[in-house]
Formats: sequence, structure tokens, C-alpha cells
Amino acid sequence: MDAVLKYLDVNKERFVRELCDYVRFPSVSAQPKHQPDLLACAQWIDNHFKSVGLQSELHRTPGNPIVVATTAQQGRPARPHFVLYGHYDVQPPEPFELWKSPPFEARVECRSMFGRGASDNKGQHFAHLKAIEAYLKTGTELPCDVTFLIEGEEEVGCTNLAPFLKAHRDQLRCDAVVISDTGIPSIKHPALTYALRGIAAMEIIVHGPDRDVHSGIYGGSIDNPAMVLSQILAKLRDKNGRIAVPGFYDDVLPLTANERKQLRRIPFKETDYRKFLGVPKLFGEKGYTAIEQRSARPTLEINGLTSGYQGDGSKTIIPSWARAKITMRLVPNQKPTRALKLVANYLKKICPPSVRLEVKSGHGGEPYLVAPTSPLAKAALNSLRSAFGSEPVLLREGGSIPVVNDIKKILGVDSLLLGLALPDDNPHSPNEKFSLDIFELGMKLSANLWPALSQAAHR
Ligand code: BES
Ligand code: MN
Repeated sequence: MDAVLKYLDVNKERFVRELCDYVRFPSVSAQPKHQPDLLACAQWIDNHFKSVGLQSELHRTPGNPIVVATTAQQGRPARPHFVLYGHYDVQPPEPFELWKSPPFEARVECRSMFGRGASDNKGQHFAHLKAIEAYLKTGTELPCDVTFLIEGEEEVGCTNLAPFLKAHRDQLRCDAVVISDTGIPSIKHPALTYALRGIAAMEIIVHGPDRDVHSGIYGGSIDNPAMVLSQILAKLRDKNGRIAVPGFYDDVLPLTANERKQLRRIPFKETDYRKFLGVPKLFGEKGYTAIEQRSARPTLEINGLTSGYQGDGSKTIIPSWARAKITMRLVPNQKPTRALKLVANYLKKICPPSVRLEVKSGHGGEPYLVAPTSPLAKAALNSLRSAFGSEPVLLREGGSIPVVNDIKKILGVDSLLLGLALPDDNPHSPNEKFSLDIFELGMKLSANLWPALSQAAHR
């Protein structure tokens, strides 16, 4: 183990340069124009795995490629096996003008690497890759096999991953999946995340006149799609953010008293949080703390809202259409299909007959919750403690990683969520960054993790 840690220390500057190369690929899965960049990025990480000594293969899918790289060798007796999941695709970088340096330039400043995808998720799984490199290059015996499963569609709902898991079930059969794609409250609070919210996406389009028309000539005699959309959207939530769709909360699993006690251990200062986000006041469902509201209660958010004229000056029209992009975050035991159906039915009921309503369902992912009490979870907590030098906390996170449920259903195992993102990493925002201190701690964590998990898997 000493040789592994020494290798990580001696080579840390090279690792930063390599991560810069990885972050430079504009692997934006939501934007079709970036498809060649996704392929190039997948090829780069595939080659990188090979250069480190893993057996790696790039698999084409109907969407973006999936890269599978393993330390396993044929003919060697079976050992514990862990799959490390990560994603090389990133969120769109827009709005560009708010970035202090271009999103795909990967700039290092004050112990942080800035760039879209640096934290979510390239830097996080790259830390594991480097820890495995350290084992292989120092000739240190790994007590288990590790298979990296790195996909390119996480940010658009992982559509091609479930069929891939089914087709490669044998190769991916494992004791657990490890995922570093969540957050920690601070560098002094490493965390094991035991619950994620699910997600259900939809678009609501309100159609009015068959083209934009003069608002002076026709206004007053026909309805306005932007106005109608605003009115029906306003009926989806009450003034505290509680979702007003009948039946929406029927399946919501309440927080237990013990959980609420655990969640109160997470450091949280309301004023700092408010200032960090630049909002004048916090907002949310009554009777819950901010941490509970954002991790263990459902939400309905407008992610995008478009209608009419957006250019300079004014243009006097009644727009032909208005569109809202919506996602709901779901908690155990809500189901995306049911949530979508309830909202769609409610919208149909409240939409006036003066416009035509169109509702399109998008991607969905179920919520995830696993009590952090297994021997593997305990081993992970021990590794966190020894790598970070402080007591880990147990987290429920508000974000979604839909694949954790596919993994559970198809491979039959739980995922250990050992995130490496700091609260100010700005994922999905301008100026995303990844802390290089966390990068180093993440490599150390990974180095510790494999022996600890292997021992726990034997029991
Ligand atoms: N890494 C995030 C998910 C995350 C972030 C979980 C922070 C917990 C804490 C992941 O890459 C992500 O952003 N997922 C999307 C999924 C969606 C597009 C299906 C999300 O949560 O919006
Ligand atoms: Mn993300």
C-alpha cells in the first residue's frame, strides 16, 4: 500500500495534466452537434485505460459509446469483483458569457480545475482510474478485480445503458458497484450517500394561433398561449412549493425520526447557503429543514420557459405557442410514470378550451434508497474515514443517477455512492470546477477502498 500511495504522490502533477486533456473534450450529450466529440472522448478514455494496463473495449450503442475496462484476467481464480461506474458526457456549458475562461479549456487556478465536466463527472472517476494505475504500475497486488463502466448518456437519462447491462450481465456480475458522482458537505465531511431522488421529465406546449399574429389587431378576441401557460404552470405548486396535483404525495415515504436526526448532523448554515446561491430568502415546503426539502421531498421545477419574441426591443405579437420544460424530483416510493400521468391529467383538466395543450413525457428515473448498514457500506465508511482523516456523514442527495436502479434490477447489487464534489463545484452551472485537494483525497480513498471492500465481500 505504501508503494501505491507514494506513486500517487510522485505522479500527481502528471495526473492533473491528464485530467485537463480529458476535460478539454466538449462531450455534451444533449447537443447532437457534439456527437463526434463524444466519440473522440470515449476513444481517449479507452486508450487511457489501455495505456495504464487495463483491458479496455469501446462498445458502440445506438447512442454514445460505452467504455468497459477491467483489471480481470482470464484464467485467474475468481476474486471479489467491483464495478466502478462513471460518465464522460457533460451538461451543456451555456451561457458562455458567464464563464471566466472557456468551459472546455480546463484552467487550473488556486488548487481547482475549471471546466465543464471537471467535477461532474470526469474528475471523480478519473481519481479511481489513477488509484488503479498506481496498483498496476507498482506491481501491488489488487485483492479484487475492478471493472470500469464509463458511459456517455448519463446527463440525458441513460437510455442505452440498461440494454447494455442486460447484454453484458456476465462480465459485469459483481459484489457491488461504486459510484463517485455525488457531493460532500465539505473537505472535512466525507460522505456515503444512501439515497437519491428520482426524476421525471416532461414538456408542456400550449398552441394558439397557427402563426404569430398582430397583438393589436387580434388581441382581446383570442387567447394568448404564453399567458395560458403561465396560468396553468402557476397552478402546479402552492405558495410554499408544495405540489398541488391531486394524488401526487400518495406514495411519498415519510422521513423517519431517526433519519431526521442523522440529517441534522450535516453542517448547514442558512445565511451562508442563501448568500452562496444569491437568493434574498430561502423557500420551501413547510415543516422541513432545507436539507430535507432538497433531498427527501419531491419537487416540480420549470427548467426552461420559452415563448414569443426574445430579441432586442419590442415586437407586438400574440405568440403562436409557448413551451415549458419541466422536471420533477421524486422520492421513495414514487414512480416516474405515475407522476407524469397525474400531472398530465391535471393539466388537461385545468387548461382552457381557447388553446390546444400538448404534453410530451421525457426521460424518467426511479428514486433510490438503501440503508447504509451492510458490511460493504461499513467498509466504505472506514475507507472514507482513513483517507479524509475525519468522520464521514450519511447523506441523502437531491440529484438523480437513474442507472443505480437499473444496476439493482439487472445486476442485483447495490451501489456505494462515494461522491467527491464540493458544494461550490458548480455542476450544471457556469464555472464548474473540481478541487485538486479532493482529487488527491479521492485517489487515496480509492487506494484504500479496494482492500477494505474485498475483505467485507468475503464475509
Ligand atoms: N452527478 C449528478 C447527480 C448528483 C449530483 C447526485 C449531486 C447527487 C448530488 C448527475 O450527473 C446528474 O446531474 N444527473 C442528472 C440526471 C438526469 C439528467 C436524468 C440530474 O440529477 O439532473
Ligand atoms: Mn450531472
